[in-house]
Amino acid sequence: MKTVMTQQTWIQLPEKRFESEELAPVQHGLSNHPLLQMDELLNLALRMPADQVRFYSGSQVPITQSLETVAERFSNGMTLADTMKHMDTAGSYVFLGQVQTDPVYKALVDEVLDQIEPMIIAQTPGLKKGNRLERREGWIFISSPGAVTPYHRDHETNFLCQVRGKKTVHVWDARDREVCSESENETFHGAHTLKATIYRPELEAKARIFELRAGDGAYMPYTNPHWVKNGDEVSISLSVTYHTAVTDRIRNLYRVNHTLRNKGYQPEVVGRSPMLDALKYASYESFKRAKRLLKDDPHYRTTAYT
Ligand SMILES: [Fe+2]
Repeated sequence: MKTVMTQQTWIQLPEKRFESEELAPVQHGLSNHPLLQMDELLNLALRMPADQVRFYSGSQVPITQSLETVAERFSNGMTLADTMKHMDTAGSYVFLGQVQTDPVYKALVDEVLDQIEPMIIAQTPGLKKGNRLERREGWIFISSPGAVTPYHRDHETNFLCQVRGKKTVHVWDARDREVCSESENETFHGAHTLKATIYRPELEAKARIFELRAGDGAYMPYTNPHWVKNGDEVSISLSVTYHTAVTDRIRNLYRVNHTLRNKGYQPEVVGRSPMLDALKYASYESFKRAKRLLKDDPHYRTTAYT
């Protein structure tokens, strides 16, 4: 008898045309993956570098809390192992960052993104055949019933996949300048900080809300703001993230504007003048190239500037 091998589809993109700039629900087949079960995640957490693991008391965290300081301000007073072993009662949140630095999880992140890469590249305006999903990363969130992830933006494009439990995700469109102003964008991209990323309850009505159960996911375009509340059971989620030449261009244009504004100039906002954007981007690329060349110069390496 002939055996037909079928490959598992990890992420099922929306049936209608995938739009790289549009928030969208997705389905995934990762819920039963052995690497995403609690015992394996505990092993991973304990072998990961400590600076890639954050955990804190999650159920008391207000959505206005800065994600950059939440772990210090909301310590749960427990060890990482105890927190994860008692997740159902720990009232806590565990974050495993950059799991692709672990070879086993890198293979998983690559396998998931390899499947969807051709379609994303083909359907992203500004990308062409041969472009790749770059700087691929994986992030795992394990949380107790009721735990909250405060309002924030991430620096990547994100497929958030709910592996276990339920989660309510409130997401905004980063292109909405009432939600993400030019000034906030410049601080977020230019200074790589959430200092200007502040939750405003009056904008809640603009959020799109996803009720994720195991097997559900959300495609979150580049840097869309969001906050998350867990349901009434332990939750495990995986985010697979990446960058592209298009998102790098957006980030770098804001970096240029941030630098210019700090020097007292009033740069044109990103996106209003394609010609000015092109000029600024070309200057940024030349500057980066010059810096690289200088670093590669053996004379440079022998000076005090290294
Ligand atoms: Fe996030």
